[in-house]
Amino acid sequence: MTDQIGVALLAAGAGTRLKVKTAKPLIRLLGKRLVDFSIDAVESFFQQKSLKGKFGVVVGHQKEEVQGYLEERYAGKFSYPVQHQQLGTADALRSYFNDCPWAKDTEYTLILCADTPLLTPDVFEKLHTTLEEKKLDGVCATFSVNQPFGYGRIIKGSSGFRIVEEKDATDEQRKIKEVNSGLYLVKTDYVLRELETIDSNNKSGEFYLTDVFKEDGNVEAILFEDAQTFLGVNTLVQLEEARSVLNLRKIRSLQLNGVNFLDSKTCYVEESVEIEAGATIFPSVTLLGKVLIKEDALIEQSCVIKNAEIGNGTVIKAFSYLEDAVVQSNCAIGPFARLRKGTEVSDGVKIGNFVETKQAKLDKKVAISHLSYVGDAEVGENTNLGCGFITCNYDGEKKHLTKIGKDSFIGSDTQMIAPINIGDKVFVASGSTINQDIPSEGFAIARGKQTIKEGMAKRFLKGKFAIKK
Ligand code: UD1
Ligand code: MG
Repeated sequence: MTDQIGVALLAAGAGTRLKVKTAKPLIRLLGKRLVDFSIDAVESFFQQKSLKGKFGVVVGHQKEEVQGYLEERYAGKFSYPVQHQQLGTADALRSYFNDCPWAKDTEYTLILCADTPLLTPDVFEKLHTTLEEKKLDGVCATFSVNQPFGYGRIIKGSSGFRIVEEKDATDEQRKIKEVNSGLYLVKTDYVLRELETIDSNNKSGEFYLTDVFKEDGNVEAILFEDAQTFLGVNTLVQLEEARSVLNLRKIRSLQLNGVNFLDSKTCYVEESVEIEAGATIFPSVTLLGKVLIKEDALIEQSCVIKNAEIGNGTVIKAFSYLEDAVVQSNCAIGPFARLRKGTEVSDGVKIGNFVETKQAKLDKKVAISHLSYVGDAEVGENTNLGCGFITCNYDGEKKHLTKIGKDSFIGSDTQMIAPINIGDKVFVASGSTINQDIPSEGFAIARGKQTIKEGMAKRFLKGKFAIKK
């Protein structure tokens, strides 16, 4: 079966108004790239309607980067027609038909831009149903704005409509508020025919795709209420606007599924984040990448969580930073904790303030309550690491492992020089520097002996501390 709908995604433009080096389709947005949003919206529409479609992404400016990224993400699914010179949107569509052999055999062609990330599947659905029900040759999505500057204006005709670009419009036409969104669904044989006649006799000297629509044609402009859906990202101001809409959409869907956000406006939640019902998210929380937060977890104010899993009933206290870490159920982490790559925390663990962990496996109910560094370590069930505990894991060249058994008590301000192996039920006295293995049930103390000289303080105390007599 041939594809029912060919998708011409126009992504050849230079995006100069953004003033950034990154190719416009590849600008980062909510954990994805700008171009991904148009693609994902079309793919959901295809899925919902059980339609078969195929994409041709028209590339030009920075084409290697754009194609390279899309090849990686969508592996072999797309064609990449090249528009060598940006001669206008009709010329871009000609490149699509010239370079995609399958495109001419499709029934319909959906034309959209790579820089409209707020489009939703229902917009495509409305275009599709109207086209089919009314047996039209083409439809164009339009919206109304008070400041139509820059957009093509919609001029209604006897049966159809045409579009006049800003530069070519008369003063009277410029007052028209219904404008072209740049999103079209057309019958493929119709648009192929019309493309042949389009010239560049206009003020820009470009080939305008908009010229396929005629006042006496069998075409219709469909007015959509929500102009924001068609927001095009041409500047970083519009990028921020798009980001805040998408962010809020994501948070609203989580809220409606039972996630309690205390202040959604201040949180940043990327598309790939999953949160289960019953979790609570305090203000100013940032959730990035592949995050899974389970039922009844609580994330307090100003935490950053990136590619991490948080178990049922776990509390991440304020100002903690977690990255590439897994924390199981009923743990208490923070405030001000930093869990780095490879941290694996079992149930009921307590990690307190100013504790940093890296490649650390902490078994059930381990407690590290204050001011510690635990790197390249395995700590057994129930073991307590006192305040100021440090693994000396790095010898200047390599990282080494510290292994501590279960039910052990490691006194405050202890350093362990790795590689080292400490048994179960061990007691280490405070202030020890441990550089030899300790067997299970052993006691170790390794600190300088204390000496007291009575009355000698006056030799050392000076200024306001001086002992006068
Ligand atoms: C276009 C429409 C205008 C509409 C507006 C909506 C035309 C002639 N005008 O104007 O009616 O109101 O969009 O935003 O189509 N592109 C290419 N190759 C080219 C030129 C453009 O691939 O040679 C791509 C761009 O990368 C972009 C899209 O086509 O994704 C639209 O081009 P742009 O120059 O932004 O058109 P507008 O002037 O905004
Ligand atoms: Mg534009």
